[in-house]
Amino acid sequence: MQNFVFHNPTKVLFGKDTIPAIGNETVHYGNNVLLVYGSGSIKKNGLYEQVCHSLLTAGATITEHGGVQSNPLLSHTHKGIQLAKEKNCQVICAVGGGSVLDEAKAICAGTPVAHDVWKFFTGKKSIKQTLPLTTVLTIAASGSEMNSGMVITNDDSRQKFGFANKRLYPKVSILDPQATCTVPADYTAYGAVDAIAHVLEFYFTTEDPYTPVQDRLMEGLVINAMESCNRILTQLDDYQARADLMWTATLALNGLTGAGLGKVGFPMHMIEHTLSAFYNVPHGAGLSAIIPGWMRFQAKRHPQRFAQFGERVFDLREGTIEEKAAKSIKELSNWFQQVNSPTSITALNIPAKDIPQIADNAVTLAKVWRMQGYDQQLIELILKDCI
Ligand code: NZQ
Ligand code: ZN
Repeated sequence: MQNFVFHNPTKVLFGKDTIPAIGNETVHYGNNVLLVYGSGSIKKNGLYEQVCHSLLTAGATITEHGGVQSNPLLSHTHKGIQLAKEKNCQVICAVGGGSVLDEAKAICAGTPVAHDVWKFFTGKKSIKQTLPLTTVLTIAASGSEMNSGMVITNDDSRQKFGFANKRLYPKVSILDPQATCTVPADYTAYGAVDAIAHVLEFYFTTEDPYTPVQDRLMEGLVINAMESCNRILTQLDDYQARADLMWTATLALNGLTGAGLGKVGFPMHMIEHTLSAFYNVPHGAGLSAIIPGWMRFQAKRHPQRFAQFGERVFDLREGTIEEKAAKSIKELSNWFQQVNSPTSITALNIPAKDIPQIADNAVTLAKVWRMQGYDQQLIELILKDCI
């Protein structure tokens, strides 16, 4: 167990019929609100009316910044910052998934400064202040609702970079599982894959040889993500299953799993971000195409860790350490296929001939994230095992 500081300031309102609280929770930070949302799902499922009614009843003035796309773009973020400045918005209310919440976080960070918000992502500037953010989460996946991270794609440089700062935590996040019942089967599965990936990144890159508390927590989150996703895919409006997956995805990347692990990495995400930047694939689908190949690479260096994962998550009992390690990767890959999440870049229609340029782009993020050892050659090697 390494030393750690765990401080998560986000207030979470979880459960049925919690969305009407968004108005009062938001105007607590100011009446002049920028409402950020995506490409239209909230207008189809009634959330838009529900949130606007709550904000207006609480006395808010609403400026809208809709049209956030999945894998959010810097160019659209710039428009949101300009609007927030022109309208002197005091607080941002984001209604959507990780893409909407991340673009809203970038607007929170970019509105108080005169320079390009992208300078935060490349480490050229550091965040000193942000506008406050409240959120209504509509898809269980990214964990952005209760973390300090944001991921934006620079459409000019085609770089998709993630960045974290303690001032980016939402003040309040409302998690009503009912809001996720309209998420279709494919994005439900991609969200579960993303939550699992958040756990695996830490589980397989910690250098601490003995972390029983975190291991059991992380193994339980992976089991819950798979089991609740399976239940949802048999009945999309299963409230309890939606609630289980929603809270699992939040816990998978809110700082709890990493507390005490010491130094960890995010290598699968470092590679996947390029797939989303280049081909606009859904984040979770990009991850399931990368995860088995990266796990096979990492299992050669730490077979015991993968054998433990197989024993505890897939109840593997037979075989040597190496055999169990290989079987655990196969079991997870089989589950990705079972939920129709792609398990190769070929399944994403990404040609193998693109591997050098994908690796070339991913290396730029590896450098910003200071990931030792992840050079062009190694990333190409891993990608060649994902064909
Ligand atoms: O555009 P809208 O209307 O929002 O539709 C979305 C989008 O088409 C739709 N959707 C969301 N809620 C729905 C719904 N459709 C029907 N009913 C609902 N209730 O689903 C599609 C995907 O939405 P998106 O927000 O893109 O999904 P997700 O939550 O997986 O977010 C993906 C983004 O999160 C970033 C990823 O890089 C990606 O850009 N991540 C953010 C992280 C963070 N901040 O900590 C960490 C993650 O690793 C991840 O990188
Ligand atoms: Zn992710």
